[in-house]
Amino acid sequence: MVKIAFFDTKPYDREFFDKINERYHFDIHYFAPHLTQETAALVAGFDAVCIFVNDKCDAETCRILYEKGVKLLALRCAGYNNVDLPALYGKIPVVRVPAYSPHAVAEHALALMMTLNRKTAKAAARTKEANFTLNGLMGFDMHGKTAGIIGTGRIGKALISILRGFGMRVLAQDLYPDTKAAAELGYTYTDLPTIYREADIISLHCPLTPESTYMINKDSIAMMKDGVMLINTGRGKLVNSKDLIDGLKSHKIGYAGLDVYEEEASCFFEDFSDEIIADDILSRLLTFPNVLVTSHQAFFTKEAIAAIAETTLENIRLFFEKNELPNEICTGCDKNTCAKCAKK
Ligand code: NAI
Repeated sequence: MVKIAFFDTKPYDREFFDKINERYHFDIHYFAPHLTQETAALVAGFDAVCIFVNDKCDAETCRILYEKGVKLLALRCAGYNNVDLPALYGKIPVVRVPAYSPHAVAEHALALMMTLNRKTAKAAARTKEANFTLNGLMGFDMHGKTAGIIGTGRIGKALISILRGFGMRVLAQDLYPDTKAAAELGYTYTDLPTIYREADIISLHCPLTPESTYMINKDSIAMMKDGVMLINTGRGKLVNSKDLIDGLKSHKIGYAGLDVYEEEASCFFEDFSDEIIADDILSRLLTFPNVLVTSHQAFFTKEAIAAIAETTLENIRLFFEKNELPNEICTGCDKNTCAKCAKK
């Protein structure tokens, strides 16, 4: 029986994976800690290792996995910026869940926008205290405003379709524009400076790569409209958090909705409510009334978790039963340009 070591597991992971594993019959061991160099020794005797977004699979951890005889690394997420892929080249194949529910993430991006715009969190806190005043709760119509969507893959397109339903004008940027989708959904591709200049709301949906790291920085923020709303459900390091704080302090940024944060691995998904937060940048961000931080929960719907569990266990079955890797991430290159990727 295939033995799988799961890292960074929470009760909801167990619930969904155990249910779907009734059909797969894998021998699953759930470990609560992240996969790190320190915990990597736990993988001895396991055939496969399953990790999530904030597990850290750096070169040394990869070396330990290989040395301990792990045959497959299965990511139960889409993004893979936390894995040193070249360190696994020719040693351990890596699979992921490329798509589970783009709607889950797109709808959460919308939730961030609407909560910031219409101040529903503040309003709910007030009415619970029997305070029924409206001072400070004024929002703006989404209808007629311009959204700038950076990255028009599955999630970006799902969000565009929602925002078009609001009657918004949508500008978009992508390394590989999908002109057919643009015509169907009614949005326009343009360049980043035009998005920065014209968008009332900017939402990030591209992966974290060397090119996209800190794409939102003091220079791009300087180009933006005064009072712009920035939404990041992509990856934390797309945004330079210090520059974001400066943008908020100068009122250039009017609202920020962050589901991801560049140093989230040390705090997201855990309860620090009785402790002092050591991260001064995160602490400062949390003080702004016009910043909304959620703890990487955009993916967190029943439908998405069920789909993640199904695809992850199917990825593992296909590899061990049929030596097939339909959702493999290429470890031989970092831009999906090598012969192996081109074959896909
Ligand atoms: P996708 O692969 O369908 O689309 C990504 C798009 O970004 C592609 O069209 C690609 O051409 C484009 N792109 C790549 N580099 C770019 C760049 N430098 N500038 C502009 N566009 C660029 O991916 P999907 O499923 O839409 O997910 C997007 C990202 O959302 C993921 O990479 C991941 O980081 C993040 N994500 C966040 C989740 C959360 O819970 N907060 C859950 C799932 C994904």
